[in-house]
Amino acid sequence: MNHDERGLATRLVHGRGANPLGAVATPVFDTASFAMADMASHERTVRDPMVHGYYSRVQNPTVAALEETLASIDSAPRALAFSSGMAAITTALLALGRRGGHFIASDQLFVNSREWLTHDLPDFGCEVTFVDLTDLAALEAAFRPATRAVFFEEFTNPRLDVLDMESIVSITHDHDALVVVDNTFATPVLFRPLELGADLVIHSATKYLAGHGRVLAGTLAGSGPAMDAVASLRRRLGTIITPHNAAAVIEGISTLELRVARASDTALRLAELAEAHEATSVVHYPGLPSAPAYELACRLTGGRHFGGMLSFALHEPERKAAVYDAFTQFVRATSFGDVVSLVDSVDDPDVLRLSAGIESPDDLLSDLSKALDAAS
Ligand SMILES: Cc1ncc(COP(=O)(O)O)c(C=O)c1O
Repeated sequence: MNHDERGLATRLVHGRGANPLGAVATPVFDTASFAMADMASHERTVRDPMVHGYYSRVQNPTVAALEETLASIDSAPRALAFSSGMAAITTALLALGRRGGHFIASDQLFVNSREWLTHDLPDFGCEVTFVDLTDLAALEAAFRPATRAVFFEEFTNPRLDVLDMESIVSITHDHDALVVVDNTFATPVLFRPLELGADLVIHSATKYLAGHGRVLAGTLAGSGPAMDAVASLRRRLGTIITPHNAAAVIEGISTLELRVARASDTALRLAELAEAHEATSVVHYPGLPSAPAYELACRLTGGRHFGGMLSFALHEPERKAAVYDAFTQFVRATSFGDVVSLVDSVDDPDVLRLSAGIESPDDLLSDLSKALDAAS
């Protein structure tokens, strides 16, 4: 673990990398390659291309500045930035699973992660067992000698279930496997999985970290040989982030704590409103005292903020389209973690998912209230 003693807000703002001209904002090093002073510097670079400037598919100073910040906020010795969240997930799992690896994966995953594990990784010679990770006995029973890692989201998408990360870590480490957490929903503001014993943490930085719905980006933080393996595979797959997108994530990250706090406060009020409305049959939000995993969520987050994501099911699924169409402030779009509030229709036939943005909360509450009225 990294021992940066500074507060999270300071770490979010100050990771801007070194640059010779002292620019306060991180410069974008828009270049494919870097000049070599002489043969000695060429040879140094070939020996250690991650450290010395060489080629931007391998490393780039803007990307390095982002990775320094990511390592600091995830409490990791090292971080890598990718062209998307899926680039981080696919590169990491491919690196960990090579030559016949077995994975245990949560049965509640973002659809593309699930498809990667179901259809693609087996084509690369890996095996995958999906498990309901709220059932720790089922987890225990799923390990095999070849199990390399347990992969799950905290909180889960779209039902916002909370998994008992500390117990999962302890069981997994008893089996000498790694814990890989997709922390996209929670962000490092709510909790930092590496501080709870996880080995690798992934974020789709397209969401809260970049925060403005403009760029695709992904992150991975952790330590040890697993990070070396992922870094060298990223170099060959070419899944590194572009310098421009790295700069956008650095800019977004600097306001992450403010945005997550605001979105969390609003999401709790939205969840309370949805729970009290007769159109909903269930509201999924880990910060509602009625949520099945409320105690667990408080333990993980410290009980102050629970994130900006919530979802709800309607009593009458046939009214889902009417409710979806009735929103005027929430933008009907996929993705989440944007400054703009979003409503998305997920796979489940009676469920809608909301991502609270940073607009005036009363406008969002009134929009949700009117949309739910359209269910009757
Ligand atoms: C939990 C989670 N992980 C990963 C991803 C993939 O991220 P990206 O769209 O940046 O590839 C998503 C995308 O929605 C997601 O919801």
